Amino acid sequence: MSNVPVDNGRRRFLTVATSVVGGVGVVGWAVPFIRSWNPSERAKAAGAPVEINVGKIEKGQMIRAEWRGKPVYIVRRTEKMLAELKLPDISDRLRDPNSEEPQQPPYAKNINRSIKPEFWVGLGVCTHLGCAPTYEKDTMEEHVKGLDNGFFCPCHGSTYDLSGRVFQGVPAPLNLVVPDHSYISEDTLLIGVSQGEV
Ligand code: FES
Repeated sequence: MSNVPVDNGRRRFLTVATSVVGGVGVVGWAVPFIRSWNPSERAKAAGAPVEINVGKIEKGQMIRAEWRGKPVYIVRRTEKMLAELKLPDISDRLRDPNSEEPQQPPYAKNINRSIKPEFWVGLGVCTHLGCAPTYEKDTMEEHVKGLDNGFFCPCHGSTYDLSGRVFQGVPAPLNLVVPDHSYISEDTLLIGVSQGEV
């Protein structure tokens, strides 16, 4: 046991100083990481990826984001909505039911036109002349017989199902575009970067 008197004031100072240095170290590491996923408005306009927390979207709800100056629709589909995509009576009336046209990245070339069946991510830009289709939740029957949910373009009446697949007999020639996207965690969607590139 030492007889040197303990300087409690100095010890407290050293403890505080060490904590502050430690804290700066963490902040110094964390800030560039956060910044890399929160690009400036200018960077976003130029095409930087956009990160979305999809965990907060309720089932059946659609939110809008913006990427490269274009609206992006993100719909969290219910089981009933997913079942509607498989109705033979509906797919028989679609122009490109198997998404043969390259309107989506390869990992979204499936009936759901998405990575996760629950979430559909697509540009809200009608493939006729670029109007924004409306999200028709439980009201699509007004435009397509036998279908509860989909998208309707008010400009010239084009209709799409909830995977963005266009119906026959409308002005729009193609399915809605699915942009490159990926998931960087269970609930975090990244628009603008392809699955496998993150
Ligand atoms: S722009 Fe959508 S139908 Fe013409």
